[in-house]
Amino acid sequence: MAVIAQKCPDIQVTVVDLNEERINRWNDPDLTNIPIYEPGLSEIVAEARGRNLFFSTDVDKAIFEAQVIFISVNTPTKTYGSGKGMAADLKYIELCARQIARIAKDDKIVVEKSTLPVRTAEAIKSILDHTGNGVQFQILSNPEFLAEGTAVQDLINPDRVLIGGDNHTAEGQKAIDALVGVYANWVNKDKILTTNVWSSELSKLTANAFLAQRVSSINAMSELCEKTGANVNEVAKAIGMDSRIGSKFLKASVGFGGSCFQKDILNLVYISKSFGLKQVADYWEQVIIMNDHQKRRFANNIVKTLYNTVADKKIAFLGWAFKKDTNDTRESSAIYIANDLINEQAKIAIYDPKVDENQVLSDLDYLETRPADKNRKAITAYEDPYEACKGAHAIAILTEWDEFTKYDWKRVYDNMQKPAFIFDGRNLLDGKELSKLGFVYQSIGS
Ligand code: UDX
Repeated sequence: MAVIAQKCPDIQVTVVDLNEERINRWNDPDLTNIPIYEPGLSEIVAEARGRNLFFSTDVDKAIFEAQVIFISVNTPTKTYGSGKGMAADLKYIELCARQIARIAKDDKIVVEKSTLPVRTAEAIKSILDHTGNGVQFQILSNPEFLAEGTAVQDLINPDRVLIGGDNHTAEGQKAIDALVGVYANWVNKDKILTTNVWSSELSKLTANAFLAQRVSSINAMSELCEKTGANVNEVAKAIGMDSRIGSKFLKASVGFGGSCFQKDILNLVYISKSFGLKQVADYWEQVIIMNDHQKRRFANNIVKTLYNTVADKKIAFLGWAFKKDTNDTRESSAIYIANDLINEQAKIAIYDPKVDENQVLSDLDYLETRPADKNRKAITAYEDPYEACKGAHAIAILTEWDEFTKYDWKRVYDNMQKPAFIFDGRNLLDGKELSKLGFVYQSIGS
């Protein structure tokens, strides 16, 4: 929304949320306090806020005044009832639709921005039409393809914008054209695709499933590389130069994380199962199974290498976020690896440039593996990476933050227990240089 406001100064954008604290932070004059860390975002907010970008908790007023409403609530994996652990929880979507229906007194375009299972637009339309005040609603699907850490660039220069709508009626086409008109302020028309609603909804799930599948595919090869003496970076480079395969998303890692991949694939699996498509469901579920395996075997390898015991040993984690340039930790592999190592009674020291101890603890508590006080005893977060590594038996690199490549690794080595191990879950560091300093260096896939 901030980028739309920046690129379309004639459109008034109001972002509403029930959470007052969050809205206050979006309105904070100190731009370092806005709730999301994302390179380039605070500059855009600084430019547009107060001009045509507003943040408010007055949801009803914003609905009443708007011509176009984007629904951007979260759709987490259900934690209860039928579809528990798989289906998307559409509770927040439904509440939103009911509120829009209650408040709207003139025709509106409602845009699904949240990632949704296929055919959710139908449910939104049904709620709007049956509980509304007799006004007309057009529902569009406009999935968001930005990735965290590069969100601003991805929005300013998208590979494509996808808009799904009812292209068989004049009103539907008019709504599609209106949204195309918004993006056309800065996106080339040939990059704006229009489809029917279902294609649009399914394309988002498919894009994430394909991306995650590439990571699981290269991670599967990483284990084979370790057994055979091949090097996964060399394999990735060799296959990526095949223009049919392409070079992106071939980085072997400690497993993918983030709020989308797992959730969307589980969703796809659930939808497939509900249509009785067992083979389709099993096929996609394997991407998740591989990812869980990759996380688990990384933790197991640490234990095995440290002479089969990490009890009371200090293991330093560099990185907790699910990828660099974000403070988002949702589904980060680091959480699961810490959890496994705490089961082995390790002491975990964490340094992440954008994540604090409260976040780490709440991520671990969320797993409900052990009482909260046990997590508190097992982990310490540091604001200084050298302190985090001091006295440690091993370092695990879990996020690919650029700054990790710039450390004084001799200084780190001198202050560690010997032998000093580095387990590089991101293939980030120069193993040869670190070995020269005395480290025992292991990376994924070689
Ligand atoms: C993803 C999609 O890329 C984006 O289009 C969609 O809108 C939302 O989901 P995001 O979750 O922000 O975006 O991050 P992404 O860059 O896709 O990375 C996801 C995970 O995969 C991260 O944990 C990342 O470290 C990991 N990854 C990515 C790898 O392990 N190897 C790779 O080669 C690429």
